[in-house]
Amino acid sequence: MSQQATPAKVKVTMKVNGRQVAAEVEPRTLLIHYLRENIGLIGPHIGCDTSHCGACTVDIDGRSVKSCTMFAIQAEGSEVLTIEGMANADGTLHALQEGFHKCHGLQCGFCTPGMITRAYRLLQENPNPTDDQIRWGISGNLCRCTGYQNIVKAIRYAAEKLASGGKKEAAE
Ligand code: FES
Ligand code: FES
Repeated sequence: MSQQATPAKVKVTMKVNGRQVAAEVEPRTLLIHYLRENIGLIGPHIGCDTSHCGACTVDIDGRSVKSCTMFAIQAEGSEVLTIEGMANADGTLHALQEGFHKCHGLQCGFCTPGMITRAYRLLQENPNPTDDQIRWGISGNLCRCTGYQNIVKAIRYAAEKLASGGKKEAAE
């Protein structure tokens, strides 16, 4: 009986949330598994593994990416942002995190890390989106709980707070 050879591991390095990380993984390792199992960042979730739900969304080199759709090795040398790196430098919540909290943009929270990470890139690309543009912008991220209304409110809250230099206080 022939024995199958174990695939050789490769060293994959990248910058995640401003920190240089490296791990030896099989070439078939998906980025989401690299982040969760090798780097220990369990904020990005696995909801489907088939590129539908968006729970695994991270930001790579200025783009939103579903991290179950690419191999870790494809992110070699990239800059990656996950929900763990979203807070402000002084430790306070990012406007999006605050918005989701204040506007009740989550229930079970399973979709939230991917939703916030996606919304982060959306606001980078369009700091003052309409509700329709927000809905279109998060259309790759599924939420089974909220009905999306409060997610849209939360993202609008963040957009307004960021536009006013972080001075927004009251929830809408
Ligand atoms: S786990 Fe990646 S899109 Fe669902
Ligand atoms: S809050 Fe439960 S899936 Fe979105």
